[in-house]
Amino acid sequence: MADLSGFIAGLPKAELHVHIEGTFEPELMVALAARNKVSLPYADVDALRAAYSFGNLQDFLDLYYQGMNVLQQERDYYDLAMAYLRRAAGQNVLHAEIFFDPQGHTDRGIAFRTVIDGLWAAMKDAERAFGISTALILSFLRHLDEAAAERTLDEALPWRERFIGVGLDSSEKGHPPSKFQRVFARARSLGLKAVAHAGEEGPPAYVHEALDLLRVQRIDHGNRALEDAALVARLVREQMPLTVCPLSNLRLCVVDDMTRHPLRRMLQAGLVATVNSDDPAYFGGYVNENFTAVQRALGLSRDEIVTLAGNGFRAAFLDDAAKQRYLAALDSYVVAASA
Ligand code: HPA
Ligand code: ZN
Repeated sequence: MADLSGFIAGLPKAELHVHIEGTFEPELMVALAARNKVSLPYADVDALRAAYSFGNLQDFLDLYYQGMNVLQQERDYYDLAMAYLRRAAGQNVLHAEIFFDPQGHTDRGIAFRTVIDGLWAAMKDAERAFGISTALILSFLRHLDEAAAERTLDEALPWRERFIGVGLDSSEKGHPPSKFQRVFARARSLGLKAVAHAGEEGPPAYVHEALDLLRVQRIDHGNRALEDAALVARLVREQMPLTVCPLSNLRLCVVDDMTRHPLRRMLQAGLVATVNSDDPAYFGGYVNENFTAVQRALGLSRDEIVTLAGNGFRAAFLDDAAKQRYLAALDSYVVAASA
């Protein structure tokens, strides 16, 4: 089988599903813990990395929230986002739409302003330095109640121009999209885009709810939609993008082996699947490693890889002119690589 890792590395890509708090590499976490005089319950970077073994989503989330506690000052948020964007740009990610979890910070007494000012400054500096384009999506923590999400949206409104949409993440089971119907309606009335994690661990019914009740424009993950043929037909008919995260699926036991990952079946069904990294510092790889791991395990063809990369740009919250520009860059790359 052809080795496509070099082709994948140079391929122009979009990343549509990455949690900035999930890009917190152990080395940076240890450095910021020292800077902020926070103690971590691990002896060193190796011990921290060794703890990253998860049986399910909740196992991961427990460590993810613990790691976030280290973030305290505006410059911590800047350093976190800058490190991710430098790395993403280095992997030929031309456009990144990035989740942040304000409640993971404000519930610890960190001001919303501290978080968004740090992230925003890094995004603007990275755009200038690396030519990457960026956007932020404010994600609500679904294990908390809707009133808390409403307060978070209120708190964010002074910075309305700095985020393009709202999302829904954290513990899925027992926290259906229906719980957040009102806050999503308000967000949409403010002109915000809507996305939601659904069908990662939760049932296909949660994907239906995200579509019908939250009126999302993309489904984050969506793996379990495949259990419901009528739902698959609908997602295909509506050309609803799925932001799929192969290494996350493997590390959170959503799939038991990469050779059984549903990505090829998704493409064959006509679904608009994209490849993303989710929480790369915890799951063992950024976008290129996600593409490479799933390409190798499933033997995906070059054409399938190009379709996936193209889907990333088509599914992005970009205007048509920007999408055409990125898709043209993708085309040129593929033509040059075939020569
Ligand atoms: N699922 C739900 N919540 C999350 C995830 C995820 O994969 N990553 C960060 N928060
Ligand atoms: Zn996610």
